[in-house]
Formats: sequence, structure tokens, C-alpha cells
Amino acid sequence: MNNKFEGFPKDFLWGGATAANQFEGGYKENGKGLSTSDVMTGGTHTTPRRITKELEEGTYYPSHEAIDFFHHYKEDIKLFAEMGFKTFRMSIAWSRIFPNGDELEPNEEGLKFYDDVFAELKKYNIEPLVTISHYESPFGLTKKYNAWASREVIDCYVRYCETIFKRYKDSVKYWLTFNEINCLALPFGAFLGGGLLLDDSGVFMNKDSEDKAQIRFQALHHQFIASAKVVKLGHEINKDFKIGCMIAYMCSYPNTCNPEDVFLAQEKDNLSNFFCSDIQVRGTYPGFAKRYLRDNNIEIKMEENDEQILKEGCVDFYTFSYYMSNCVSADPTLEETSGNIMGGVKNPYLKASDWGWQIDPKGLRWSLNNIYNRYQIPLMVVENGLGAVDNVEADGSINDDYRIDYLREHIKEMKEAVKDGVDLIGYTPWGCIDLVSASTGEMKKRYGFIYVNKDNDGNGDLSRSRKKSFYWYKDVIKSNGEKI
Ligand code: BG6
Repeated sequence: MNNKFEGFPKDFLWGGATAANQFEGGYKENGKGLSTSDVMTGGTHTTPRRITKELEEGTYYPSHEAIDFFHHYKEDIKLFAEMGFKTFRMSIAWSRIFPNGDELEPNEEGLKFYDDVFAELKKYNIEPLVTISHYESPFGLTKKYNAWASREVIDCYVRYCETIFKRYKDSVKYWLTFNEINCLALPFGAFLGGGLLLDDSGVFMNKDSEDKAQIRFQALHHQFIASAKVVKLGHEINKDFKIGCMIAYMCSYPNTCNPEDVFLAQEKDNLSNFFCSDIQVRGTYPGFAKRYLRDNNIEIKMEENDEQILKEGCVDFYTFSYYMSNCVSADPTLEETSGNIMGGVKNPYLKASDWGWQIDPKGLRWSLNNIYNRYQIPLMVVENGLGAVDNVEADGSINDDYRIDYLREHIKEMKEAVKDGVDLIGYTPWGCIDLVSASTGEMKKRYGFIYVNKDNDGNGDLSRSRKKSFYWYKDVIKSNGEKI
């Protein structure tokens, strides 16, 4: 047995991650239609974003210009190449290809834009990793069908995938069907993940609105079917395609060794994390999911061959986002903390970011092992990072040591997980270039190695500059994770 540990695999995919609705801009350029994100106003940590059914004059919508990758893609890709990126995670804006979502013919000019982006990436040997639907769908589908609530939308999505698979079959190998598909299993994910409008409040992630779990889980079922269908279709179009799922991994520890807490943590892991990935990786609803639906009087309407479709559309690899961890307790009086997707009980051993997300590098190693023990397929960490306020010094430099510390500690734990035997194939930290925050719509919550001169209200000249972390990450990549 050759038992020598040689660090990260030779062809490890180092890179960075973005999403069209948070960085592309050009919201009306070349025939693009409105997407669900285009009707979301700006917000802050304390003031929620709003969803407006019509665009309001004088209201600020962060996605409309975002950081204008649409016009800066050559400059941005050049900077990614300078850092040595092997891969770049981006998403395609569905409404750029099918402006209303249900047209029969695609928008050629939209397709052309991504031809150009992929050609630019190829120039620098950067492998695209494409999310097909990242927290957006054409708003036309919401207006006409309440989006994923309707089964019709499956066909629209399959048509969209067939179009992009055929068009980009020689330039893209890695695809993800839905970003953080499991957010639709939670009330706040209704609009973000499913394009569903479930009340008239117009408040994004409204904690006070009545949950309509029946609609949400039916919509989620439609996404499972859509995902499975396109995994099969993608492999028919190009057998070398690698098509993955993407889960917002919520690492939850039992707050104490009280068996009640321990069981609750396992139940949360099952329902929040494994509900969706068991279906996408193994091709069938697990028993605990069936029980959850039964206990909550949710009945999934299935068509005759749905079970077969799920079985035939299992993903090739598993990807996930990891930002933080929290605790689970049977005691409802304990202090809560906020977090990505969902909060939990505060962990006294951890510090938190300015946005209240608890920083836990060891939790990443724990999560990687936990996921790999279950599925034994290649894993990729496609989001991880620290949202923070950056200061530009008088000389223009940005000394983001806090970001370097965060990433360094997470990379160390990834390496330990590789040592543990986890088949980890890539790492794309979130928001490798500053972009709009999904939850709050802010610019000041920055994740990037590259600073973008723009503020929360849209002021700034959009110029790009390298932060201290830019040079640090460049060395990390160059040394394949040895020099951190
Ligand atoms: C993930 C999403 O949940 O978290 C991204 O996939 C998002 O779209 C990221 O931007 C960070 O969250 P936020 O709210 O800080 O932008």
C-alpha cells in the first residue's frame, strides 16, 4: 500500500465563485428579460429587501448593474488568470437565454454573450463551472405559472438546458443544476430558490408570512425532476459532462450530550442537508423525508414515471457551500445566532463575522467527512468566504488580513479532510470579486480578492483593485495549497 500523503491532488481545481444575478448587471442588454432577482430592491442587515411586481421608478435594484461583469468580463477574467485560477464558477442568467422563460426559441444575443465569456476563459485555460440556475429564474415564469409551483416549468427548464448544453458542449464540462437547492425546503427560500410568490407583503424572506409548505415541497419536487431529467439529457449530449448538485451545507452540532440535542442535530442534518442530496445522489426520497412530509400533511403529486426519472438522473459529483456552523438544542430559551440560510443556537467557542455568521474552520473538515462517508463521490467546496467591510487606505491598498485568516484556516482543514481520505476535487471561494450580497442586497458585505469601487447605493466608478488577499491566494494556488 502506498500510504504517503502528498497534499492536494495535482489537478485540484482552485478558483473562485460568482452568480450572474449578483455580478453580471446588463439586466436589459441584448434582449435579456427580467429575472426574479431584477425585481428585488436593495436592503441592509436590518432592513429587508422588497420584491416589487413592477419596477418602481426611483427605486434601487442592485442586480441591474451589479458590478457590471457584462462589460468588464475581459478585465475580470484577466485578473482571475493572474491569480492562477484553474476554474471559475459562474452562472448563466436563464432570462438572458429565454427572456420570459417559456419561449420556444432562445435569444441568440444572450447565447453569444456566454460564447464570448467561455472563449475568454479558454484563453487562460480556466475551466468554467456553470450553475444553470443560481437563485434566479425568469420573472415571466413567476407571473404566468408562479414559477416552480407549476409542473409546466420543468419543460421550460429542460428546453433551456438542452439549448445551453448543445451550444456549449465543447467549452463547458462541469455543470450544477440548481444553486443551494435545499433552500426551498425552508420557508424563506420560496422566492429565492423557487421563484414562488406566496404572499402579497412584498417583503423578501418575510419571517411573519404564513408558510405554504405544500406549495414549496411540490415546487422542490419539480426541481428534483427537472434536475434528474437534465442530468440524463446532458450525458446524452456529451458523455464527458460532469453534472453535480449544490447544497447549502448547514453544519449543526448538538448543543450538549443530552440525547435530545444529539438526536435533534441528526434530524436537522437529515432534513436540512440530506433531504435533497439523497434524492439527487441516490435517486430516491429517503425514509426520513417521507416521514417529514407525512407528519406535516404534505402530499407530493407525482406522475407515473417520476420515480424512474429520479433513479436515472443521479448526479456525478456533490458540491456545497460552507460558511459557518451553529448548534441545535431542545431548549427553546437559548440565545440564537444568525447565519447563511438559517441560524441556530449560539456556540460559545466560536467568534462570528460582522453579520453574525459563526466562523468554524474545523466544521468544514467535519462536514467534508460527514458528506463523503455517506456518498463516496467526488466533492467540491464551491462557496466559502468571509463577508466583511473593507477599508481602502490612502495609498489605495486594502489590507484584508481577516479574510486571509478565515480562508487560510478553512484551507488547512480541507487539507486535513483530504488526508482523511475525502475525494475533494476543487475549491471556489465565494465572491472572488466583490459582488452584491444575496441576502441583503448590499455591496459593503464584501468577499472578494478583487475590490470593486461601488457602494450600497450604487455610487462608484466600478474600478477594480487587488486586495492583499489577491496576492496571498495567488501563492496558495501556485503552491497547490502548500504555501498558506
Ligand atoms: C450563498 C449563496 O448562500 O451565500 C450566494 O449561494 C450568496 O448567492 C452567499 O451570495 C453569501 O450570502 P450573502 O447573503 O452574504 O450574499
